[in-house]
Amino acid sequence: MNVVGDSDLPIGVFDSGVGGLTVLNAIREKLPNENLVYLGDTARVPYGTKSAVSVTRYAEQAAKALIERKIKLLVIACNTASAVAVEPLQKLYPQIKVMGVVGPGADASCQATKNKHIGVIATESTVSNQAYQNAILERRSDVSVVAYPCSLFVALAEEGWHEGALVQQIVDKCLEPLKAENGSLIDTLVLGCTHFPALKKVISEVMGEDVALVDSAATTAHAVENGLKESGLLNKSISPGNVEFLVTDGPERFVRVAKHFFKDEISMAEIQQIDIQHFGNAP
Ligand code: DGL
Repeated sequence: MNVVGDSDLPIGVFDSGVGGLTVLNAIREKLPNENLVYLGDTARVPYGTKSAVSVTRYAEQAAKALIERKIKLLVIACNTASAVAVEPLQKLYPQIKVMGVVGPGADASCQATKNKHIGVIATESTVSNQAYQNAILERRSDVSVVAYPCSLFVALAEEGWHEGALVQQIVDKCLEPLKAENGSLIDTLVLGCTHFPALKKVISEVMGEDVALVDSAATTAHAVENGLKESGLLNKSISPGNVEFLVTDGPERFVRVAKHFFKDEISMAEIQQIDIQHFGNAP
């Protein structure tokens, strides 16, 4: 169990792989003096095509690994895991605050829409678990929400295919059903996956400039700051915080692909490979 009140402890950030580094960027920008530990479950990525039961189990194992290392707050940076695991993890670990990215993304979209029609694109799993749809409607019952899976964007983003004619064609094709059903209506589109901000430019060209794109990284960082303030756990240090990286497989690939998502270069020496699959689910 954590020593409650220890503001020097790191914030734990968990993702299925590299995509959550976009959320880590935003947290570092907002809270540069915080120590951070990032865990990418690269052995089992992608989560976006897996069942809620499997994703919840993976998230429980990741949370346990981070909490045993001692963290003061847990951020689930992965949208697919946030969609199913925030509540179960908060119940398992009442001693620390567990935050996901779906709530902050839903907040941002509810604030952004003017005409009350919101679209969401995410992984297959996030869409079928109705995570954003429910979170948005809980906040505003006067809006309409449509959600479509675009799992292919994950591969494009990881390969560094972020723009160009071919990417434009693929994005166009994937967004066709959304545009056909609701394209003329929505004025706000939630990028409900860690990887989609990498394709923001092309998505915006395809959807048109009247559609506001919402990504949850910045709002999550803001929510993390508030969460730390509420629990009196903001780090008082005036020097820049440390960042530690943990992966469950393939540190070389992590370093290579991280270049598409993280603002700074990550070196092999900064990464530790760990095994989290032997962790049981109970605290
Ligand atoms: N991190 C996942 C998400 O935000 C995308 C990658 C995956 O499918 O694991 O939903």
